[in-house]
Amino acid sequence: MRAPWICYCFGLFLILSCYSTTAQTPFDYPTANLSTTWKNTESLPHSINFTDGSRIRAILLRGSFGPKFACGFYCNGTCINYLFAVFIVQTNSGGGIVQPSIGFPQVVWSANRDNPVSYGAMLNLTASGELVLQDVDGSTVWTTNTNGKSVAGLNLTDDGNLMLFDDSSSMVWQSFDYPTDCLVPGQRLFQGQQLIPSVSSTNWTTQKGLFSLQVTDKGLFAYVGANPPQVYYSISVSRNDTNKGRRYVRFLNGSLSLFILSDNPSEPDAVISIPQSSSAQYMKLMPDGHLRVFEWQSGWLVVADLLNDFLGECNYPMACGRNGLCSGNQQCSCPVLSSPRIDYFRPVNDRQPNMGCSEITPITCNDIRDQTFISLENVGYFNSIADMEKVDIETCKQACVNNCSCKAALFRYGSDSSSGDCYLPFELFTMMNVDPNVIHRNASAFIKVQNVRSPPSASTSRSSQSNLGVILASTIGSVFFLLGVFGFLFYIIRKRRQDAQMEEESIGEVPGMSNRFSYEEVKTATENFNKKLGEGGFGAVFEGTLKDGSKIAVKCLEGLGQVNKSFLAEVESIGSIHHVNLVRLRGFCAWKSQRFLVYEFMSNGSLDRWIYHGDRERVLEWNCRKKIILDVAKGLAYLHEDCRQKIIHLDIKPQNILLDSDFNAKVSDFGLSKLIDRNQSQVMTTMRGTPGYLAPEWLSSVITEKVDVYSFGIVLLEMLCGRKNFDRSQPEESWHLLSVLQKHWEHGMLLDMIDKYSEDMQTHGLEVVEMIKVASWCLQYDYTKRPSMSTVVKVLEGVMKVESSLDYNFTHPKLQNTVFEYDKDMTPLLASVLSGPR
Ligand SMILES: *[C@@H]1O[C@H](CO)[C@@H](O)[C@H](O)[C@H]1NC(C)=O
Ligand SMILES: *[C@@H]1O[C@H](CO)[C@@H](O)[C@H](O)[C@H]1NC(C)=O
Ligand SMILES: *[C@@H]1O[C@H](CO)[C@@H](O)[C@H](O)[C@H]1NC(C)=O
Ligand SMILES: *[C@@H]1O[C@H](CO)[C@@H](O)[C@H](O)[C@H]1NC(C)=O
Ligand SMILES: *[C@@H]1O[C@H](CO)[C@@H](O)[C@H](O)[C@H]1NC(C)=O
Ligand SMILES: *[C@@H]1O[C@H](CO)[C@@H](O)[C@H](O)[C@H]1NC(C)=O
Ligand SMILES: *[C@@H]1O[C@H](CO)[C@@H](O)[C@H](O)[C@H]1NC(C)=O
Ligand SMILES: *[C@@H]1O[C@H](CO)[C@@H](O)[C@H](O)[C@H]1NC(C)=O
Ligand SMILES: *[C@@H]1O[C@H](CO)[C@@H](O)[C@H](O)[C@H]1NC(C)=O
Ligand SMILES: *[C@@H]1O[C@H](CO)[C@@H](O)[C@H](O)[C@H]1NC(C)=O
Repeated sequence: MRAPWICYCFGLFLILSCYSTTAQTPFDYPTANLSTTWKNTESLPHSINFTDGSRIRAILLRGSFGPKFACGFYCNGTCINYLFAVFIVQTNSGGGIVQPSIGFPQVVWSANRDNPVSYGAMLNLTASGELVLQDVDGSTVWTTNTNGKSVAGLNLTDDGNLMLFDDSSSMVWQSFDYPTDCLVPGQRLFQGQQLIPSVSSTNWTTQKGLFSLQVTDKGLFAYVGANPPQVYYSISVSRNDTNKGRRYVRFLNGSLSLFILSDNPSEPDAVISIPQSSSAQYMKLMPDGHLRVFEWQSGWLVVADLLNDFLGECNYPMACGRNGLCSGNQQCSCPVLSSPRIDYFRPVNDRQPNMGCSEITPITCNDIRDQTFISLENVGYFNSIADMEKVDIETCKQACVNNCSCKAALFRYGSDSSSGDCYLPFELFTMMNVDPNVIHRNASAFIKVQNVRSPPSASTSRSSQSNLGVILASTIGSVFFLLGVFGFLFYIIRKRRQDAQMEEESIGEVPGMSNRFSYEEVKTATENFNKKLGEGGFGAVFEGTLKDGSKIAVKCLEGLGQVNKSFLAEVESIGSIHHVNLVRLRGFCAWKSQRFLVYEFMSNGSLDRWIYHGDRERVLEWNCRKKIILDVAKGLAYLHEDCRQKIIHLDIKPQNILLDSDFNAKVSDFGLSKLIDRNQSQVMTTMRGTPGYLAPEWLSSVITEKVDVYSFGIVLLEMLCGRKNFDRSQPEESWHLLSVLQKHWEHGMLLDMIDKYSEDMQTHGLEVVEMIKVASWCLQYDYTKRPSMSTVVKVLEGVMKVESSLDYNFTHPKLQNTVFEYDKDMTPLLASVLSGPR
């Protein structure tokens, strides 16, 4: 609400402060010698006040021009407490710290977050080579304990590591060995080290016993809680553990990778993808358990949220606090016993249901006869590990009854409730409402509660409390009302300005971009969005005709809220991609908050119209099918390998393959995933795509271009078989095309599964079987075994042969440590039931 005014002020500050700061001693000063003392006062030359209330007194600064690392004293807000910290600041070409109105210092490491110091505190690099932080009362708050280790000086390195080195310039002590809640690019988090968030954004104190991110010999784990910790995210190492190297994760440009130290470090075990950037980034474990990547884009933005999976916000352990129940888009409530309705929990804070729920009567262990369970159907828990496997519900509940520390019995099963997984947490975090069809399991929660023997006798104190409550409520109410009125006014003003600004934007010509349409043009061309061609994953598509008579398809993008520079940048990059097998983007339109993409028109529509349904009229000839398959493969190979920037489509399906009047196939919607991701500050680790075409590695977060290869394999199979991947109109054992493929392979009868209506496919039997093998190759469970799209093109063109040792077991049982589990016999269903957030 306050944004426009703040912007105004920022603008003003920017002008003023640029002058004032460039005037200061400008150079880069990355090292310091022994026997140096810095006092936390204005006497330190490199002091800046930022407009967000933060303040720095820099001691060392490495580099100039752009976001650079500095170290020194840092505070924010009241500035009673200071950290000695490493932070990223904006610098000019002279090495002066600039941009106090947007380049707010980003703290990536601190020495004393649990013991902040005051104004006047002293940092000494002593003659004996120790770095000592003393508060103003003379007490030692922090030290590197490097006395007598022949330290020669202090160095702040290019990658943000604060280092004490000796005469031979070797490292004696480094801040990278003591990570706090951040990793900077290149930094490693070793087995045995951990990131722990701060209590909140305003209280830097290390969070106790809640979230942590750790590397163990098994992989990378995000934990919540203390006794024992519960896993809410993990990537486990795929390799066999014979080679026991010390493991670490490393934040690289473009990925967070898990390595084994003794192995070839260029071969990561597991990767979480984050956006590549030409700018500064860092990742931070947030107080709410998210691991976010921040990036400088003329302002610090969150560009990725790494521990997200497709179950969304509710899968975070504190989404609704302790004992809370999360449903939908993070709607929080407290568990209740429904019949008879008894409240055993109350919200910790009535106004903020996401703060969690507390027990009205704490559990006492003396008399378990006074305990009952609140049972909740279709309620799951983020933890995927089981304490007891293959037990029935009663055994699970009884185990909880028998152990006083147990707070709940969480039970999950497939179709057989006498053989499920039982989990007995000693601390209960947020539970979530789940759809068994999505998590692929039935899940129930039984929450242990204590019955009250005698009714509470605090009625008198309660009434006085409620009086106070009324007074408070009315005071707070009127304050809120006033705030509301002001807020509304601000909103109106801001809205007007924005609208005006955006209108301008739609009229103004951007030099070098001729393919920008005005809203009027788009509206006229589509006759006021009259003829809808269809509805895609990213929005509705309309047919239109331009003034020059050429036909176009206009896609209205949904989910792109405000004006976004990156939209233009992305569109420019998509628009510059030309390939005969990619649908051409003719231009775009940005008007107010609306975004349109204008494509060439493809008169034969999308592939799905031609391959499903047993419509004899529309059967494609074998040669035509082959041509389409090759076209799609070429289009994808181009996106993956020949573009300036690799583009992973992430949503290959027949609906996104368009056919022109000569049945030339073109891939559409490429680059859109990236665009949408940018705009929603998400990464590819968020499950996206279309159920049925999703590769299994979506479960383990290793997302490469091979997910497109997998989806291509499904499309290919569908084209050969003339049916959908998941088809309930078939007999039950044939619902899943992959099971059909596996069965026919085992019986050596591949030709039996192809499109019954196509006679010429039967006559080209050998070619068709070869093609089924290509599909099977693309559908390999292990994504490293799948061919690249350029290899597929070579095979289709007859230059290469299909890999001979293929795995025809498409119902692979082994998926480690995913957030949810599934039964072996259900794996083929996997892809078709995962409903991505679309
Ligand atoms: C540190 O000492 C060396 C040699 O005495 C000197 O050249 C250098 O300028 C000093 N550095 C700083 C930052 O004072
Ligand atoms: C920053 O703000 C403080 C408190 O308002 C003031 O004393 C100090 O001089 C300011 N420093 C700079 C560099 O503007
Ligand atoms: C400083 O505090 C303000 C308000 O407390 C907050 O908005 C801002 O993000 C903080 N700055 C940094 C760099 O954390
Ligand atoms: C740090 O330096 C100050 C001033 O030079 C001095 O008074 C203080 O004793 C030093 N502290 C340590 C631990 O060396
Ligand atoms: C300080 O670190 C940089 C790397 O960022 C390195 O190039 C330089 O040699 C180091 N200086 C000393 C004195 O060790
Ligand atoms: C910060 O959090 C800690 C731990 O919860 C608490 O003890 C401390 O009082 C908090 N500090 C402030 C300034 O709120
Ligand atoms: C790991 O290697 C050992 C010994 O080579 C073998 O016994 C074990 O089955 C392997 N485990 C896995 C999961 O491959
Ligand atoms: C990250 O990688 C991209 C693309 O490879 C490159 O343009 C960029 O400069 C790199 N960024 C950094 C900070 O190294
Ligand atoms: C409860 O279970 C934990 C872990 O299984 C066990 O260590 C503890 O001894 C049990 N307590 C009782 C009272 O059975
Ligand atoms: C849930 O359980 C019922 C029977 O108890 C079973 O029919 C159904 O298939 C199960 N659903 C899932 C998704 O496992």
